[in-house]
Amino acid sequence: MKSKLLAVVFGATLVLGACGGDKTDSGSGDTAGGVDADKVYQANCATCHGGNLEGRGNAPALANIGSELSESEIHEIIEKGLPGGMPANLIQGEDLDAVAKWLSEKK
Ligand code: HEC
Repeated sequence: MKSKLLAVVFGATLVLGACGGDKTDSGSGDTAGGVDADKVYQANCATCHGGNLEGRGNAPALANIGSELSESEIHEIIEKGLPGGMPANLIQGEDLDAVAKWLSEKK
């Protein structure tokens, strides 16, 4: 009885220890793949590329971007930007991965 209780307490300590690990991932979504790419796009990209990927001003339409560029090419563009007015580093990490994948499926 007593040893069982000890085991439970000890177990809980181990779990807590694992969670408090080195990855200080502050803010949004703690689950991998839990990113809403559409939402990230609307917040960071839609002002230039349009709410329906239709393009606006200098910013090209992205509605069929998946048939022109691969996921990794899109990933690189988002990361590094483009000379014609596409800013670099708008989004990072999971958000970047999710949006690149999401856009690569727009065909
Ligand atoms: C300040 C306006 C602006 C914002 C914000 C912006 N873009 Fe762009 N984007 C552009 C412009 C302008 C181009 C064209 C640049 C060029 O051709 O040199 C472009 C090009 C692109 C391209 C390449 C399109 C093609 O046909 O080659 C992709 C992909 C892209 N943007 C994705 C995104 C994503 C994803 C976001 C949000 C994270 C984003 N953009 C935010 C202005 C913007």
